[in-house]
Amino acid sequence: MKQYDFVIVGAGLFGAVFAHEANKRGKKCLVIDKRNHLGGNIYCEEIEGINVHKYGAHIFHTNDKSIWDYVNSFVEFNRYTNSPLANFEGELYNLPFNMNTFYQLWKVKTPQEAQDKINEQVAASGITDPQNLEEQAISLVGTDIYHKLIKGYTEKQWGRKATELPAFIIKRLPLRFTFDNNYFNDKYQGIPIGGYNKLTEGLLNGIEVKTSTDFFEKREAFKAIADKIVFTGHIDEYYDYCFGKLEYRSLRFENEVLDQENYQGNAVVNYTEAHIPFTRIIEHKHFEFGKQSKTVVTKEYPCEWNSGMEAYYPINDDKNTEMFKLYRTLASEEKDVIFGGRLAEYKYYDMHQVVASALVRVKSIFG
Ligand code: FDA
Repeated sequence: MKQYDFVIVGAGLFGAVFAHEANKRGKKCLVIDKRNHLGGNIYCEEIEGINVHKYGAHIFHTNDKSIWDYVNSFVEFNRYTNSPLANFEGELYNLPFNMNTFYQLWKVKTPQEAQDKINEQVAASGITDPQNLEEQAISLVGTDIYHKLIKGYTEKQWGRKATELPAFIIKRLPLRFTFDNNYFNDKYQGIPIGGYNKLTEGLLNGIEVKTSTDFFEKREAFKAIADKIVFTGHIDEYYDYCFGKLEYRSLRFENEVLDQENYQGNAVVNYTEAHIPFTRIIEHKHFEFGKQSKTVVTKEYPCEWNSGMEAYYPINDDKNTEMFKLYRTLASEEKDVIFGGRLAEYKYYDMHQVVASALVRVKSIFG
């Protein structure tokens, strides 16, 4: 008999949920992570008593009551509602696009006036068969919203001109004809009271963990001590990049501690002008209604991804999708390795989705 039933590579949400559920069923688990902390991308670093979302702003939202109840069974969530703002040339606009935004743009006061304005601009553009992202966006929301609130932000995010990006990136652009700044349509949303680390601690309570431990440095040794490996790292790395490297977009974060209580009055402000190099400023204390005397703000700069950098957004174009399929075929032939989570599945997952996916996997294994 081996020392562990499972060695779980990666202490992010997928690994932590899997470990918790396996442990609950009497299985012996060891969770390792190459980072010096647990939690993966939901990890918060405490600065000046404020939980700073180290890997980008994280807001939990879901329509699924069972997932909401599940995460709330480890830590209670607060009532934070995401209502970001956009700053364009010093003017502020509410997001998502709603009656407040339309009033700020055109002083229109009724849904009909707003719809007429948008229809007028869409018709004037004459675009019937959009060939790129710019044409697609204008054909959906007209020129004002596109130029002020979409173009610069999107070009910074992708590092390419909107006219060079494929139309399919934007399938739809939700327009809301009510005065409602709540970004998500989901029934449940919030932030764990006391921060995301409480969720991770709850999930991994009583489970053996080792941080600053890279699976690939002792791959054979880990395989030798466990019946099965749960792998939530990069699938291409697992197979020594035999089909090539899967590509990502990355982000660079610049944190600043400010000697003032409140910098921007909101957790998230997007900067939608092309010439401002960052896409957003996050003021972390507002996620938890913090009253600390100082504040921490983070500027978010999208950038190209190279090996050694954090991989954030998979580039699901044809080339990468085909490459991933080759890796997935190899993975499906493994008897004792379970692949899961955003890096192993080369997929953008929201938190509620990755929790659900881990629970589905647990059910398929343990019944
Ligand atoms: P995650 O990356 O968290 O965990 C994988 C772990 O494996 C990492 O800790 C890594 O160090 C470890 N690992 C990799 N290789 C290893 C190796 N060789 N050896 C040991 N350890 C290894 N979702 C949402 O619902 N609301 C939101 O607001 C946001 N916001 C957001 C912002 C940004 C910028 C991004 C990129 C993503 C979000 N998300 C989000 C998504 C959220 O971050 C995501 O759903 C989960 O973190 C995914 O959890 P995983 O466990 O799959 O990966």
